[in-house]
Amino acid sequence: MKTAIALLATLAAILFVLGAGSAPAQGRYNKAAFEKVMEQANRENRVLLGSLIAANWGRAGSTAETIEELSAEIRTLTPKRNTDRIDHFRATADSLGVWAGRLAAAAEAEDGRQISEAFGKMVGACVHCHATFRE
Ligand code: HEC
Repeated sequence: MKTAIALLATLAAILFVLGAGSAPAQGRYNKAAFEKVMEQANRENRVLLGSLIAANWGRAGSTAETIEELSAEIRTLTPKRNTDRIDHFRATADSLGVWAGRLAAAAEAEDGRQISEAFGKMVGACVHCHATFRE
């Protein structure tokens, strides 16, 4: 019995050291930070959709640029779920930024086909990330 407890203690110590070693690279889940940036993303996305429907390309472009900026902030966060897939989380945040940027360019060019493609891919990044990383 004593040996078993000693063994468990050693195992716990090893796991603790391993855990401590890998923690700094990933950062920590921060609920308030998520809430703040996601509320903003949601608001901007709604304004963006409204601007597209109203064919207000100027407003659509500037809103898309704001979402592009938000993606850089999202990228720095650590999700609660699937933290071991942090690289994929960051890649999805990058994808959001890339397509928001292309959407801004397409809006400036008033290119309807590219606007639709970019908007679809951009929202796809929101949806994909939620499916993978949201509780
Ligand atoms: C790289 C990942 C990622 C991307 C991209 C992303 N989100 Fe999120 N979002 C999350 C995670 C994770 C949560 C849950 C936060 C938590 O666990 O506290 C969340 C939560 C939310 C919430 C809070 C309400 C709820 O239903 O949980 C809203 C609203 C939201 N996101 C909107 C958006 C919109 C709109 C976009 C795209 C413009 C977007 N998000 C893009 C990861 C992402």
